[in-house]
This record gives sequence, structure tokens and C-alpha cells, in this order.
Amino acid sequence: MKALVTGASSGIGRDMAIYLSKIGYDIILVARNEDKLIDVKEKLDTPSDILIADLNNKDDVDKVIDRCKKDKIDILINNAGFGLYGSFYESDLDKEIEMINVNVIAVHRLTKEVYKMMKEANGGYILNVASSAGLLPGGPLLSTYYATKSYVRSLTLGLYEENRRNLNNVHFSVLCPGPINTNFNNVAGTSFNLKSMSSDFVAKYAVDKMFKNKVVIVPGFMVKCGLFLQRFICVKLLLKIIYNIQVKKGRKN
Ligand SMILES: NC(=O)c1ccc[n+]([C@@H]2O[C@H](COP(=O)([O-])OP(=O)(O)OC[C@H]3O[C@@H](n4cnc5c(N)ncnc54)[C@H](OP(=O)(O)O)[C@@H]3O)[C@@H](O)[C@H]2O)c1
Repeated sequence: MKALVTGASSGIGRDMAIYLSKIGYDIILVARNEDKLIDVKEKLDTPSDILIADLNNKDDVDKVIDRCKKDKIDILINNAGFGLYGSFYESDLDKEIEMINVNVIAVHRLTKEVYKMMKEANGGYILNVASSAGLLPGGPLLSTYYATKSYVRSLTLGLYEENRRNLNNVHFSVLCPGPINTNFNNVAGTSFNLKSMSSDFVAKYAVDKMFKNKVVIVPGFMVKCGLFLQRFICVKLLLKIIYNIQVKKGRKN
């Protein structure tokens, strides 16, 4: 049994790889930072391989797809991703395109190709990592990031229903966590003003729920409550509230 995890060099991806290895899966670890991947590989209990890939790069995404097919993986976890803080008016377009490539295009391409392979094999799990951001109407000051996560959530749910009607053993899940203590903030240029969860808790929770065929996975009681309550708030007011939370996230130098 084999799993491929993107963004396995750090945070949730690293902890999902460690947990999957603990329960018996061989792992293919994907990310750009080789040294960090070697550190993760050393922590694993099962045979594992490192695949260096920049998911901003189409050829590297093809390389990952080829590896999924060659190894006939049983689990694909599309976890690699990052955010970028700032007003849309001022933010760097090239960085945003990179974010769309990693958070959306790579996820889309990997999901499509691996789904075809799993459908033929009549089995497998695809877990896409979105965010609680993907369940909200928009995210002022992190607008592109929220939009990418909405895409991942929407795509995965659409595929879940299409696939369910085909009566096969491929399973789709989307992980929508709130704040987690990882390297995400350093990359995004933010700091959390809400209580964050530990990434090893989220990783284990997500994998366990994936195996139970849960479609939308939201770790943490408070995050679940918040997401439930926001449904009763009108969109304009909700956007104001989100803005006021995000504005405090800007890094104070
Ligand atoms: N932390 C949170 O609060 C939070 C909440 C909700 C959802 N999420 C989502 O959870 C996922 C994992 O994030 P994290 O919190 O664990 O952050 P993290 O610690 O920064 O990990 C991000 C991972 O993505 C990889 N990555 C980034 N750009 C890449 C690229 N161009 N090509 C290949 N890999 C790339 C990084 O590896 P390299 O740098 O080595 O390439 C790293 O392994 C992301 O999709 C994020 O949006 C995070």
C-alpha cells in the first residue's frame, strides 16, 4: 500500500506522511526542499522515496503524475500550498500566479490523472487540502488564497458526487481546517490572532476521517461551530468581520 503526499517537507503534509507510515503505508514524499524531505524520510517506519518537485512548474507536476501512475498509489494527498497576505491592489501578481499554479492547477491536474488511474483500478483515496477559508464567502487581504481554497473545496465536492454515482471504490475528501501551527504564517507574512491547532492532531484526524469516507473534514469543535454560525450572517457583514480578523494578521515588524 502506497501513498503520495505533496508538501511533505513541513507542517500538515509532513505529519500526514508520518502518520500514514505509522499505520503501514509506504510513502512518496513530494516538495522542493530536499534537506527537509530527508529529515522527514528518516522519521518514517516504512519504505519511502523522495521526489523533488516544484508544483509551480508544469514539467515537475507531470513528473509527480508519472510517479503516481508508475507506483499505482492507493492514496493521493494534495496538500502543498501557501498563502500571501496583503491587499489585492498592492500584492505581487507573479507570486499570486505561482499560488494559483500550486494551490489550484497542480491539484487539478494531479486529481484528474490520479482519479482516472484509481477509477480503472476500482479503488483509492484522494484527499485534497483546502481550508476553512474555502468554506467562507471571501477573504479580504488574503483574497487570492481564499479563492484558491474555494476552488479546491468546490472541485472535490463536485467530483465526490460524480464519482458516487459510478459506484466504485474511489473516495474523495476535502480537508478544511482553521488555523494550524505550521510554517504557513512565515510564508504568507501573517500571524494568527486566533488559537491554532497542532499539525500532528490535524494530520491524524484528517487521515482517520478520510478512511471513514467523510467528505468535508473540519477538525476542531470551535472551527465547526464558527463555520456553522457564519451561515446565518449576511454576506456583507461576514466580509466585514473577516476583514477585521485578517487585518490583525498582518505581520507587525
Ligand atoms: N497552517 C494553516 O493554518 C492552514 C490552515 C488551513 C489550510 N492550510 C493548508 O494546508 C496545506 C499545508 O500547509 P501547512 O500549514 O502545513 O504549511 P507549511 O508548513 O508552510 O507547508 C507547506 C508545504 O507546501 C510545500 N510547497 C509550497 N510551495 C510548493 C511548491 N511550489 N512546490 C512543491 N511544494 C510546495 C512546502 O514544501 P517546500 O517549501 O519544501 O517546497 C511545504 O511542504 C496548504 O495547502 C495550506 O494552504 C493551512
